[in-house]
Order: sequence, then structure tokens, then C-alpha cells
Amino acid sequence: MKVLKNLYIKKLLYGGYGLAQAEGKSLMVEYSLPGEMVEAEVYKEKKDYALARASRIILPSSVRRNAPCPYYGRCGGCQLQHMQYQNQIRVKEEMLLETLERIGKIKLNGVEPTLHSEEFGYRVRVQFKVQENKLGFFERRSHNIVEIDHCLLLHPSLNHLIPSLKEMVKKLKTDEVHVVYSPHEDEFLVKLIVEDLPQKEKIKRLMETILPKNVVGVGVYKGGKVYSLGRDFTFVKVGKYRYRVSIDSFLQANYLLWDKFVQHAIPEGRFERGLELHCGIGFFSLPLAQRCHFLMAYDKNRSAIRDAEYNAKMNAVSNVSFDHTSSLEALKRHASEVIDLVFLDPPRSGLSEGEASLIVKNRPRELVYVSCEPTTLARDLKVFIKGGYKLLSLRMIDNFPNTYHIEAIAHLRLE
Ligand SMILES: C[S@@+](CC[C@H](N)C(=O)[O-])C[C@H]1O[C@@H](n2cnc3c(N)ncnc32)[C@H](O)[C@@H]1O
Repeated sequence: MKVLKNLYIKKLLYGGYGLAQAEGKSLMVEYSLPGEMVEAEVYKEKKDYALARASRIILPSSVRRNAPCPYYGRCGGCQLQHMQYQNQIRVKEEMLLETLERIGKIKLNGVEPTLHSEEFGYRVRVQFKVQENKLGFFERRSHNIVEIDHCLLLHPSLNHLIPSLKEMVKKLKTDEVHVVYSPHEDEFLVKLIVEDLPQKEKIKRLMETILPKNVVGVGVYKGGKVYSLGRDFTFVKVGKYRYRVSIDSFLQANYLLWDKFVQHAIPEGRFERGLELHCGIGFFSLPLAQRCHFLMAYDKNRSAIRDAEYNAKMNAVSNVSFDHTSSLEALKRHASEVIDLVFLDPPRSGLSEGEASLIVKNRPRELVYVSCEPTTLARDLKVFIKGGYKLLSLRMIDNFPNTYHIEAIAHLRLE
């Protein structure tokens, strides 16, 4: 493998790579930090850039630390553990601003203060990979598994469940195990993605003999869901609201930031008719309905919409309607109506061109865009700004400490 010496790392790029220059090309170096001098092994060469991994730190950064996790460097889950946490926040803010400028041509002087939590123990939702009875996560850049006994990002209760899960997968042909934990009910939902379909009786026996009592439901999936035992849902609390969340619905992963997330994403002021796309279980919808005379909320996931409808009833929120419809269909449906707020929380792919342009055509007074992918956020904000919107604020919420992932809340108003 080619080794390059004395590389100066100029800055960190989105993805967690340090940027250096060598042999007339840009070099993206894993496990390096800005300001460092490193030696790196090149593992992929393209015409105008190369990818490398720091093999020796010649001059370390003052914000470098020994990664607390024993699997760091092999496991693909974390990319920034070798940097002190407060500095991770600062570099992510820079990455967000840089991405907005590069892709969206949006130049901002700064972002609102980032919302953050403890850097470990925050995840209540996890997807383990399984291979030859080994349970863990994919290695960086590969589909081989790093077997783990614990993961520092997980809620401690999820870590306590790992030995039972390992015992269980030894008795099944499983590809993946997904777990959702409710910190309020202290209970788990488990989803098994299997290669060979086990008899229901077998799963029942394993639940009784191996899994703790607070695993309240196990679903078995091969392609889609085949059957489930016990309960399909649990409950969580965010602010004053209680939510039912089913195993097939999306749940925000960082429970330590749930309250702050809602408080900061819900805009001030009053709205007549709000339109929310990607509403999931109603995580934002219930508090958002308080600001609206009426809120229409949509998601393409049927399970999430069932939860959202249940959640509105359970919390006595009556001025919101939910429908199992894609965001494009929902926008077409309301195209000629007067709407004064659109609230968006799309997956990483962001909005389609059609969706963004339908929003601009409708001209709602305000937009809130919650994003987990800065590149698509930048692309979509560019369309809104061109369409006459002003970016009022941009705030990062560090939902995924120690990883490169960036979540942000953008608030826009029609000029
Ligand atoms: C990041 S999650 C956010 C969910 C919810 N806002 C929350 O905070 O729990 C994105 C949601 O978008 C939904 N989704 C993805 N593509 C969609 C589409 N084309 N139309 C409608 N909903 C979509 C997913 O089902 C998922 O619930």
C-alpha cells in the first residue's frame, strides 16, 4: 500500500475525512484532525483525489484524544471519537456552513448555538448486523462484522441486552437485529431479520428462556414482516406528550435531545393552516398543532400514521389530521390552498425537485426544514431562497455525537 509522509491536514470534511494535498491531488485522510501532520496509507486512488487512512500521527492536534471505545478504528459506526467532544461540535458547524456555501451558494456568518447532550449513552434505537452468529456492526468500508460486547453510543440498557441477543442469534439464522428501547417504560421491541424462517414456537421459547421479561415484543421479518409475538409497540414521552411508537415506525435516535429538539424546531407565532410532511409518529405534530388553527400531517409509512393518529387521540389533540400519503401527493393535493406553514423532516435524500417547487409555488409564509443530511439541505434551501424565501435561522442539533452525521433545523420566511 502506498504510504505518504508529512501530510498537513488543512480541515475536516463532511464524512470525517481530514483534507490534505499530495502529489498534486486532494487527499482525504481518515482518523486525522485539522492542523495535524500525519503519515497515511492510500487505499483508493482516483484521477483528482485519493482516500487514505492516517497510519502515524507525526504532530498531533491539541484536541486529539484516545478514543474511549475499544472498537474505534475498526467499527464503522463512529468517525470522530479521536476528537474532544466540544471540538466535534465546532467542526460540524463549520462543515454545515461550508456545505451550504459550496452546494447551496448560501453564505452565512454563523449558526445558532448548537443543541447537544452527553456524548455517549444517547441512542435508544440500534441495528446490529449478524454474521456467523457474531453480532456487531459493519467495519468501516466493508461488510465484515466487528463483533462487539457494548457500544458507547447506546443507552446502557441496550448494552445490557447484548448478551441475551447474542445467545438468541446463535440459535437462529439471522442477518440483523433491530432494537428500540423506551427509557420511560424500560422496555424493548426487537425485530429479527432472518435468513431462515424459524417456527413461531421456537421464537416463543427463546423469548421465554433467553430474553429478559422487558423485551415486550419480537417481530420476525423475511422480506416483510412474517409474524410477531407479544406487543408491536411501546411508549415514550417527549415534553408533555406521550407517544406510542411501533417497531415499524421511525423514532428519533437520541433520546437525550428529544425535548430540546421539539422546543427548538417548533416555530414561534400562530398559523392558520399548517402542512407537515414526513410527520412519522407525530413527534413534532402534536406540539406543532398547538401553534396552528389546523394542521394536516402526512407520512408514507402506514405504521407511523397509525401511531400518529393514536397519539393525537391519546393526547387529546384534535386539530390535526394524519394521512398515509407521500409528500409529493400531499403537496399536489393542497397545491391551490392557502397554507401559511410547511414543516419538513425528510430522510437523507431530502426533497425531490417536484416537491420543492410545489412548496415554492404555494408560497406559505414560513418553512421549517429539519434535515439529517447537509448536502441535500443545501440543495433544497437553494431552491427556497431562489423562490423568495429568507433563511431566518440555522441551528445544528448534535443528535449523533462521535459520528460525522449532522442534523440541522432551518427556519425560512417569505420575503
Ligand atoms: C427523519 S424521519 C422523521 C419522522 C418524524 N418527523 C419524527 O421526527 O419522528 C423521516 C420520515 O419521512 C417519511 N418519508 C420518507 N419518504 C417519504 C415520502 N416520500 N413521503 C412521505 N413521507 C416520507 C418516513 O416514513 C419517516 O417517517
